[in-house]
Amino acid sequence: MNAFEINKIIAAVILAVLLFFGVGKLTDFIFYVEKPKEPAYTVEAPAVKVASTQTASSGNTDVGKLLSLGTVKHGEKVFKKCIACHTIAKGGKNKIGPAIFGILGKKSGSVSNYKYSKALLAHGKTWGFEEINAFLTKPQAYIKGTKMAFGGISNEKDRASVILFMNSKSDNPLPTP
Ligand code: HEC
Repeated sequence: MNAFEINKIIAAVILAVLLFFGVGKLTDFIFYVEKPKEPAYTVEAPAVKVASTQTASSGNTDVGKLLSLGTVKHGEKVFKKCIACHTIAKGGKNKIGPAIFGILGKKSGSVSNYKYSKALLAHGKTWGFEEINAFLTKPQAYIKGTKMAFGGISNEKDRASVILFMNSKSDNPLPTP
């Protein structure tokens, strides 16, 4: 590499630097826009609005959120796990477990002519959505000593669906949260 070539390279670098800054200055000049002091619109207010409509539509409680995962139709399928021991049709008879038509909104352990365990009788709560959700997640853990020999439903969609299905089998379905 001789001195002439090195000069060419240096000249090219200087030219590039000049062009780079020169063009920058020139566009600054052409496209100069005065920035307003106040932003023309704020993003916060509409963002808050969106958040509040979302919570309103997906339910305020955890159980409301859970139920939104399920469907009555899928619940009918899931209920096949229960029919060995329960009838759910109106006027159905007690089997190994009590007949559970219209069970939501009823006091636990209140089906006539059914001999409950002491544990379930002592439980004495009304079957609301949260109650029945906790019970069906793991029956023996929720009511220690229950004679319902069923492991529970861990899948949330399945559990939500079977609860919705049971609620539909009623003269007075509970309003879903
Ligand atoms: C192996 C039989 C068996 C299966 C399967 C079973 N249950 Fe039960 N269930 C029982 C028995 C027995 C009881 C009464 C428990 C007690 O007295 O401790 C009961 C009680 C209940 C109760 C409380 C009823 C009341 O009057 O308070 C509900 C609700 C219930 N079962 C729902 C279900 C659902 C939903 C399924 C299916 C996902 C299911 N069960 C599966 C046997 C069963």
